[in-house]
Amino acid sequence: MKINSIQYVKNLKGKKILIRVDYNVTLGKNNTLGEEDDARIRMSLPTIKFLLKKKSIPVILAHRGRPEGKVVETLRLNPLADRLTHLLKKKVIQLDSCTGYEIENKIKKSKIGDIFILENLRFDPREEKNSDDFSQKLAGLGDMYVNDAFSNSHRKHASMVGITKFLPSYAGLLMEKEIKQLSKSWENPKRPLATIIGGAKISTKLGLIKKFMDVSDFVLVGGALANMILKAKGVSIGKSVIEESMIKKVKEIKLTSTKLHIPLDVITSDSPDSLALPKTKAVGKVLDDEYILDLGPDTIELFSSIIKKSKTIIWNGPMGYVENRHFQKATKKIMEVVLRSRADVIIGGGDSLKMIGHKKMNKNIFLSSGGGAMLEFLEFGMLPAIVPLLLKNNKT
Ligand code: 3PG
Repeated sequence: MKINSIQYVKNLKGKKILIRVDYNVTLGKNNTLGEEDDARIRMSLPTIKFLLKKKSIPVILAHRGRPEGKVVETLRLNPLADRLTHLLKKKVIQLDSCTGYEIENKIKKSKIGDIFILENLRFDPREEKNSDDFSQKLAGLGDMYVNDAFSNSHRKHASMVGITKFLPSYAGLLMEKEIKQLSKSWENPKRPLATIIGGAKISTKLGLIKKFMDVSDFVLVGGALANMILKAKGVSIGKSVIEESMIKKVKEIKLTSTKLHIPLDVITSDSPDSLALPKTKAVGKVLDDEYILDLGPDTIELFSSIIKKSKTIIWNGPMGYVENRHFQKATKKIMEVVLRSRADVIIGGGDSLKMIGHKKMNKNIFLSSGGGAMLEFLEFGMLPAIVPLLLKNNKT
């Protein structure tokens, strides 16, 4: 896949460059952003630094949360602007809206060395509608557009897709790296290939499990997804939360395939938020009033032994209810085995990035910024917001 990259554009000096990033992160206590949560911000730094070095004026476009087209005070971008200022060691000028005369004027009067960040794009209902009007207003603020938000590229929104109709559009450095790495490991993987999938959101992951079953040698399933499969097989999962409406679809997966590995044993508790000691149960022995919240030791061992003999590993989604530290054990153990592996490894998804934190990575490990976007890219080989960046599609 050939993509128009900002790296090869000459004469960026003095140009106002709209750069779309994905800073959709969960904040810590007091609505601040600490170093444990700033992975996506750190990942955006190479493109921003590149633009500053070329003496262009970056104008950052970003969203946070799902405010549904309204201003939600707790979803303003201040904490992100502060963190970016800290990481760049340079004041990032925060604007309190995305459009309007004042914003236009401030950007128009900017000088080399300035860097701006607009307010949460999703405060405007036109963003998610991919409105031409909003796209054009945003485009009017700059000379060029750079998409560095791989992890939001499955969203057909104004700042992701519509805007490319009105400005010369390029991929940022992170976008390029994501496409290159994911395509490389997926199109011609070293065998055996193990795919590990967990977390919730079965509706977004079902298609991918089917695809994984076709192309992988091993498919390891944990988290709420595994509960769905157990339920579809008629095994008791107690009170574990599932998407009941999807059970019929789950039955379309080849549940008897020898490639598919689901929990043999699980950790249960009487509440997801319980501080009571968790219990280890063989699958099939879960009581009606219990929740399945993590993988049990036998399953961790089975998954670890498969991971150890694999040459390519692709992982998305936690193995348990990691929001409660009592149920992080399987995810942490499996993470240790994956990070020690010499296989080609791709890890994606917000929870995984958070658990990895600032750990130093071996060269064979690629951390994708994308959760849902990474899965869709692997399933379809393309994302809506990447299409306009392809070499043949750019009108410049
Ligand atoms: C993400 O965090 O995966 C992206 O920013 C997309 O967010 P969304 O699921 O709220 O659209």
